[in-house]
Amino acid sequence: MTDFSLTINGKAHHLKDLPADIPLLWVLRDELNLVGSKYGCGGGYCGACTVHMDGMAIRSCSMPAAALAGRQITTIEGLAEGDQLHPLQQAWIDNDVPQCGYCQAGQIMSAAALLTQQPQPSDDDIDKAMAGNLCRCGTYTRIKQAIHHAAEHLAYDASGSKEANS
Ligand code: FES
Ligand code: FES
Repeated sequence: MTDFSLTINGKAHHLKDLPADIPLLWVLRDELNLVGSKYGCGGGYCGACTVHMDGMAIRSCSMPAAALAGRQITTIEGLAEGDQLHPLQQAWIDNDVPQCGYCQAGQIMSAAALLTQQPQPSDDDIDKAMAGNLCRCGTYTRIKQAIHHAAEHLAYDASGSKEANS
């Protein structure tokens, strides 16, 4: 058993007396009640548990939590800025993406990491970045549409702020 600290959604958490190899997903759900990230396969294959480590999409079911001290972890609960939804969350609503919803937090987190790295992704970029996120309800077409809409929104915001600053 071990003690360690994690920074999650900008907040420090001190965790005590946990198994040394406990995966991040268990810490999030069982210790911190951050239950947006879901357990699907437990083996890194489905993407339902996707969160960010320093802005990169990772599978929290396969990542030992104790190894993440000093990293910035973001979960779906930390994606919005206060009352302001992330453009992807808004695009998910506008495009009625979810069906059962189980996979969708992981889908959004993978998409958010993609837009950080590639603000105007092609269909091909989206297919590659989202290939590890499975959806049993088959919402893939709406996911792609919503990612394009969010990218357009971000580009519009960026050009608006450029004009405002010029
Ligand atoms: S639950 Fe983590 S990848 Fe499936
Ligand atoms: S919306 Fe049901 S698994 Fe994706």
